[in-house]
Formats: sequence, structure tokens, C-alpha cells
Amino acid sequence: MLRAIYPGSFDPVTLGHIDIIKRSYDIVDELIVGVLNNNAKMPLFSVEERVRMLKEATNALPGIRVIPFEGLLVDFARQMEAGLVIRGLRAITDFEYELQMSQTNHKLEPSVETMFLTANVEYSYLSSSTVKEIAAFGGDTSQFVPEAVSLAFNQKKKESNKDE
Ligand code: PNS
Repeated sequence: MLRAIYPGSFDPVTLGHIDIIKRSYDIVDELIVGVLNNNAKMPLFSVEERVRMLKEATNALPGIRVIPFEGLLVDFARQMEAGLVIRGLRAITDFEYELQMSQTNHKLEPSVETMFLTANVEYSYLSSSTVKEIAAFGGDTSQFVPEAVSLAFNQKKKESNKDE
């Protein structure tokens, strides 16, 4: 039985992440989406919001679990009894960081392997940061993110308009 973790900040989840989730789901027996809870990264969305949006975006895929985690990924993998970490690679620029991370994780916990899925070309330019920038300047994010996320951006905009 192959249980895998797809970890990330998901601040917020994009259609590129959803594509990796769907493709991983077809490969492994059980998929856990691990959402990093690290306030030092100053996320736009709280971990509760990020988990909720991921759950809404993946609720058509039975058996996927969306679980927040703190601390080391390898500790979370051990706790979940998962032997595989899945990460997406969009471009060569992702590779250096991902290689370093996978080798560090493997050193820390040799039983945990990392598998890379290359991003679908349709999403290879897409990142959570660019989506946040589009939203910050009032642009329409709906072609880049699941509906739950564009609704959350609209809600945040309404709240900030009220505060002004
Ligand atoms: O979506 P991101 O921000 O690229 O995801 C990065 C993530 C969450 C996978 C990575 O930061 C992580 O695993 N953090 C947990 C801390 C950890 O285990 N660090 C050691 C590995 S280098």
C-alpha cells in the first residue's frame, strides 16, 4: 500500500496544485495533502482557510485527506506512516531548491523518498505568489485558482473595503 504526502504552503492552492493532486491520486493508494502551518512565512490565508479551500477543491476525490502540519516534513511523514513525498516541478528554476529539500529529507529519514511530477504545461507559469499579486491589484484570479479561492479573495477585498 503506497501512502504519499503532497506537502506545501498552499497560500493559496492554485489549479497547478490541483493538477498535481489529481495526477498523484491516480498513482498512489492514499494521498495526504500536508498544509504547512508556519506563521513565520506570514501567509495571506490562515492555515484553517488554506485547509478549507483545499478540502472544497478536492471534495470530488474520495479518500484524499487534507491535514495541517508543523515542524519537519519527515516527522509528519513518519506520523502519517507515509513513505513517499510528492512535489511538482514547474521549471528548472524549481529544481535546485527541490533537489536540496529532497536530499535533506532523505538524509533525515532514509525511508522517505521524494517523487517529482512535472507540471502540466498549461500551469507551468503559475504560482501562489503571482496569484496573490493579481488579487492585490484587483485582477480576476478565477482562471488560476479553484472557485473557493477566488471567492475567498473577493471576501478579503470586501472586508478591506469596509475597513477603509
Ligand atoms: O509550497 P512550498 O512553500 O514550496 O512548500 C514547502 C514545504 C512546506 C514543502 C517545505 O517548506 C517543508 O517541508 N517545510 C517543513 C520544514 C522542513 O521539513 N524542512 C526541512 C526540509 S528542507
